[in-house]
Amino acid sequence: MKIGFGSDHAAVELKNCLLEHMRERGFECVDFGADSPQDKVDYPVPGRKVAEAIIRGDIDKGVLVCGTGVGISLAANKVPGIRAGVCSEPYTAKLIVEHNNCQILAMGARVVGTELAKMICDAFFDARFQGGRHARRVELISQIERDYHAVLPEK
Ligand code: RB5
Repeated sequence: MKIGFGSDHAAVELKNCLLEHMRERGFECVDFGADSPQDKVDYPVPGRKVAEAIIRGDIDKGVLVCGTGVGISLAANKVPGIRAGVCSEPYTAKLIVEHNNCQILAMGARVVGTELAKMICDAFFDARFQGGRHARRVELISQIERDYHAVLPEK
């Protein structure tokens, strides 16, 4: 599994910690920036980059962090086919995979501490989509995109 990490300037340290944590767990990790807290990066930029890399098949999943996790997840969710969820505890992180088949975990660096963020990350990456009735509901989300004429690349 190849994981992409992205953040704005407000969340660089947390992004780097999480990347290192997942690398230590044996995952292949790709850094999409930001590179330093001084390097001002508007959150839609890394949100879009990581989301598009997933749709292209360059990476399998993503972790996005900004101040709250909300802005960067909103940007990622604009990419057709992407499901990004904001989490501040492990239970939701597990369920956004099991029920919603999210490919992206978003968190707020001003909301969660480093150790909690690592636990949230672990819950997300240890979970598996359950399919069944959940697949039908996720498909209904995709149908909304199709109804609004979004073009879904083949994957
Ligand atoms: C940056 O100050 C902040 O707005 C951003 O990190 C994020 O919280 C937006 O959702």
